[in-house]
Amino acid sequence: MAQSVVILGTQWGDEGKGKIVDLLAHEADAVVRFQGGHNAGHTLVVGGRKTVLHVIPSGVLTDRARCLIGNGVVVAPHALIEEIRGLEANGIEVRPRLGISPACPAILGCHEALDRAKERSRGKKAIGTTGRGIGPAYEDKASRLGLRLADLADPARLADKLDAVIDYHNFLLTRYYDADPVDGQQIADDAARQGEELKPMFADVTGELHDLRRAGRAILFEGAQGSLLDIDHGTYPFVTSSNTTVGGVMTGAGVGPGDIDYVLGITKAYATRVGSGPFPTELDDADGRMMAERGVEFGATTGRPRRCGWLDAVALKRMVRINGITGLCITKLDVLDAFDRVRICVDYEGVDGFPVGAEEWSRARPVYEDMPGWDGDTQGLTDADKLPAAACAYLDRLEELIEAPVHMLSTGPERDANVILRHPFG
Ligand code: GDP
Ligand code: IMO
Ligand code: MG
Repeated sequence: MAQSVVILGTQWGDEGKGKIVDLLAHEADAVVRFQGGHNAGHTLVVGGRKTVLHVIPSGVLTDRARCLIGNGVVVAPHALIEEIRGLEANGIEVRPRLGISPACPAILGCHEALDRAKERSRGKKAIGTTGRGIGPAYEDKASRLGLRLADLADPARLADKLDAVIDYHNFLLTRYYDADPVDGQQIADDAARQGEELKPMFADVTGELHDLRRAGRAILFEGAQGSLLDIDHGTYPFVTSSNTTVGGVMTGAGVGPGDIDYVLGITKAYATRVGSGPFPTELDDADGRMMAERGVEFGATTGRPRRCGWLDAVALKRMVRINGITGLCITKLDVLDAFDRVRICVDYEGVDGFPVGAEEWSRARPVYEDMPGWDGDTQGLTDADKLPAAACAYLDRLEELIEAPVHMLSTGPERDANVILRHPFG
């Protein structure tokens, strides 16, 4: 029986991770974020009520699970505080249940300004970031310049370290990017106030996880973004700035590979992408518009329309292997109910081997296999026996192509709209 389960997106994000984390969190003693930041938008729908979480783990709507933010997450204090207060305004008690690693890199106003300035300077080559300062914050972590949350909560350390950061960023903003400088004093004042507010929630996240593991308790690791946005394995440079694949769990939470019992890959029954970058199966036709409409494909963080296309089994198979996926959860199957035929990309033409980065990806032309659509409604379905035969055939073919089993299906946005074939926690 699995005691620790990792949930990862296997495409370009927005696969429906939040919904599944919320569901499985009922079995978990802790839910942990380990990478990314508030670029994520994880949607939970419970009893018709929608909650979108950005940096707080998606276990927060259950009463049991401790919610942990590991050292690999970049934290914008203002966004985290706003999210805590928003949940509190809805009667959800957050602070006693939230543990934040003081080692998380802080996203400051200068990172957000740099994210905007860099995107502007890229012109037509813009990545289409969420504008949340994610990339610049990870850059400062790698260059060992950036502040951590621990620094914000200690006035002497904050004063000692912040000036150098602001000086450097303002030099870049004004001299290189021809943008306005940020107000260093304002950032310092905000950071000190926010550090004070977050400090009571500081926790040794890594130590807590080790203790839980030793005590045989259940842990759920919540991935953000998706594998094709991984900084190493994705469609570089049109990626995010963290390792969204399974390695991120270990570095971003401080656990070992032996602490992972099961990896659940979340895969949309078709594919979407927000922002720029290659997308071999992208559709610009009535099918794509139908996916967007039925799937309500608008970004949960930025509200941007998501690009839509057919499921790409070539990319998926690769991501299954990179992540050591135990089982898949296919989400939004109900969105495909309306199609007479469904397509799966089974090969690429125009590339030698698996694409290395955006240049190779953009040459990949999809080779499709067509399968009949299904009669009948899978929306809200919970009983595997009621699945239309053609939907089963589609899923069987997918398993065969990617060489991994489907363990769960999601058939609607609501928490309980799922078909569970094999429960990840056993
Ligand atoms: P995440 O970032 O991976 O957590 O996914 P998002 O929340 O950004 O996007 C997924 C969207 O699809 C949300 O609006 C969900 O409410 C919705 N959703 C999740 N699963 C299903 C499903 O099985 N069917 C349908 N129709 N919608 C779903
Ligand atoms: P969830 O967790 C979809 C995309 C952005 C952009 C690229 C880089 O909800 O699945 P960044 O702001 O990270 O520097 O932007 O990554 N992106 C996402 N796309 N879902 C997400 O998160 C995303 N987080 C970032 O659109 O293309
Ligand atoms: Mg999302």
